[in-house]
Amino acid sequence: MPKPPAAFIYTDQADITELLSQIGSAYTNMKDGSVAPVWSDQAIKDNISAVDFSKPIPLDQALHEAANLMEHGDLRSASARCFGYFNPTSAWPAVVGDILAAVRNPQICVTSHAHASVTMERTIADMVCKKLDMQAGTAHFTSGGSEANETAVLAALCRASSDYIEHGVRAFAKTPSLYVSADSHLAWIKIAKATGLGAAAVRLVPTTGDGRMDAQGLGAMIADDRQSGFYPFMIAATCGTTGASMIDPLHACFEIARDNNIHYHVDAAWAGALIFDKTRLGLLAGIETADSVTIDAHKWLSVPMGAGIIAMRDPSFAANVFSVKTSYMPDGDGQDFYITTNQWSRRFLGLRLWMMLRVVGETGYRDLFDQHFALADYLRTQLPKYGWTVRNTSPLPVIVFDDTKHGLDSQKIADEVERHGRVWLGRVDFEGRSVLRFCTTSYLSTKADIDFLMDALNTARRTLTK
Ligand SMILES: Cc1ncc(COP(=O)(O)O)c(C=O)c1O
Repeated sequence: MPKPPAAFIYTDQADITELLSQIGSAYTNMKDGSVAPVWSDQAIKDNISAVDFSKPIPLDQALHEAANLMEHGDLRSASARCFGYFNPTSAWPAVVGDILAAVRNPQICVTSHAHASVTMERTIADMVCKKLDMQAGTAHFTSGGSEANETAVLAALCRASSDYIEHGVRAFAKTPSLYVSADSHLAWIKIAKATGLGAAAVRLVPTTGDGRMDAQGLGAMIADDRQSGFYPFMIAATCGTTGASMIDPLHACFEIARDNNIHYHVDAAWAGALIFDKTRLGLLAGIETADSVTIDAHKWLSVPMGAGIIAMRDPSFAANVFSVKTSYMPDGDGQDFYITTNQWSRRFLGLRLWMMLRVVGETGYRDLFDQHFALADYLRTQLPKYGWTVRNTSPLPVIVFDDTKHGLDSQKIADEVERHGRVWLGRVDFEGRSVLRFCTTSYLSTKADIDFLMDALNTARRTLTK
């Protein structure tokens, strides 16, 4: 019999230690190295096309090669001075947990095949439900916020019509419509297209000039839509918008959903992490009224992508939409993940958060949030001193601002900062204005990094006004 190829087999303890340390060394330049890719686009292409797959190499060399390509060719979005995205620096306990999940590779779509892993995953998911006041609810991990939001849409459609399961959107005599603010994450449009609703089903409710959904406008739009061929089935408020981290009026949106008897979802992809901080629950006030909530562990909870969570008050709607019977899968108690969630084969994503809660704990998360709120407060005091104007009123550590000293174009400033490559921030449109965007998601960021950012901004402005 042929033997298994040697390169597939890995048991040597010493080498594993060496490989782990090689992986850990990827953190080295995240503290204060360059944020921008070091290589040009052409250099990235050249270096990758030079890799010769016809000649296998030892694992440690292949790891070194891959790490080197990523080190030089990727934006270091997980580094201390990347203030542009919600990408965290992955915390080591979560990374180690993820490696363990990869090595043991439990198939958690069937409970009886991975009883311990599934129970661990459900323990974390149940914890999230309880924190959202969904004692009888259910939660599961998703690939990210978009899949979580899509699950909420499917659950809402099932709730709106029991015929949806059989006939899809054809079950509705009118066009089913869902309501989000104009400043929401526009994965909603993708979701509407992918679920067969069509982009026109997404009704963008205007904001009140501060990036928050206009609740009055929402009520009026739903009432008008009912008269003009729409069948409203869902409101999705955002708790922490992607651009400026504004919080929609959660209570008012809930009341409108209740009065209209439609599903109420809260998309708290980033800010929902604060459920782990008892001292800051007030910031999420109203989230506990939702029928479903999205939280991304891979944003502010410092675990690697992709790990989203969807929590639902009533487990039945989503379970119905995914339910299926096959001869080749066990017919368990009806709770197996393959029949209650969108995915079939499933990675043990919950282990990342399990490891974080075991090692860092809720107190550790509170410390992280303390750090981030303090950094944003510090930046808010610095910006006006140098002629930059903060444009949002978010209570969360996301700041959008622009140059009011010279009225320079925000995109030009962002490009100039980016050209130097030592620090990174975003650019978004906010209430008709082009603004720069700062957020904190890395546990590595310090006050010195904020000073560094301030300096980079002022330098960029000097260069542009020369
Ligand atoms: C409020 C909000 N919802 C949804 C998403 C999409 O999440 P993901 O990228 O994990 O799919 C994001 C991403 O930034 C977000 O900010």
